Amino acid sequence: MKKLFAVLILAAMPVLSFAAEHGPELEKVDIDLSDKAALQDGARTFANYCMGCHSAKFQRYERVADDLGIPHDLMLSNLVFTGAKIGDHMNIGMQPADAKTWFGAAPPDLTLVARVRGTDWLYGYLKSFYEDPSRPWGVNNTVFPNVGMPNVLVGLQGRQVIGCKQVQIVEDGKKQYDPLTGTPLTHEACDQLTIKENTGTLNEAQFDEKVKNLVTFLAYSANPVKLQHQRIGTYVLLYLAFFFVFAYLLKREYWKDVH
Ligand code: HEC
Repeated sequence: MKKLFAVLILAAMPVLSFAAEHGPELEKVDIDLSDKAALQDGARTFANYCMGCHSAKFQRYERVADDLGIPHDLMLSNLVFTGAKIGDHMNIGMQPADAKTWFGAAPPDLTLVARVRGTDWLYGYLKSFYEDPSRPWGVNNTVFPNVGMPNVLVGLQGRQVIGCKQVQIVEDGKKQYDPLTGTPLTHEACDQLTIKENTGTLNEAQFDEKVKNLVTFLAYSANPVKLQHQRIGTYVLLYLAFFFVFAYLLKREYWKDVH
């Protein structure tokens, strides 16, 4: 019994430690795993911007190509930069020991990161790098303070800075306006992120979309059979319902003679 109790406590620990972590409130992101265009765009961003340092080694290129509807030759010419073959796992050349010397922390494999961190966290993390000259790469992150990763998407997003600014007051989820003039009611808030205009190739809405697509791809990668599961689940329920009718009729038939 004692052992069981210890196991339960250990099992609950990751949950407890996550719950205790403080950070900025995370924006909710709506992920649609059936959106092929979003998944393809996310896969492209992942191969171009992330696989220099992060592997997705529990995933094969071929599987991704087939699931996302990308022809094998296009996959090989556009998304595979390591000379890997279509059936290979999505590994990278960087050695963890080297990475640790360069970044202070080895970039973890990202196949399952969406399960560990959740999609809201990933979305927030990738959007929350800001300039901080005191850090080795000149950037910090509000969602992952003192992170060892450089801001690899800065060319798309532009340079983001942190500071105090006027933000609109929100009460019970509603933006507040002056009842007489209709102008937004604001207050000064600090630790706010602002993108410097025209420092990135995408505008804010486009960048949000890009990151959302990338997170969609990571969510797929962490659970490639999720869509399949849902379909199979429906069949199983239909089968059970169908089977029940016959089981019931059979039972009635048997018990007729017993009564
Ligand atoms: C130049 C190398 C480099 C590139 C490129 C890079 N990362 Fe990282 N990343 C790192 C390092 C190093 C860490 C570990 C940081 C730490 O623990 O302080 C990290 C950590 C992370 C984490 C946190 C993992 C965790 O659970 O602790 C996520 C998520 C992540 N990276 C996503 C991405 C994505 C998505 C991309 C592509 C847009 C990307 N990274 C590109 C180096 C990189």
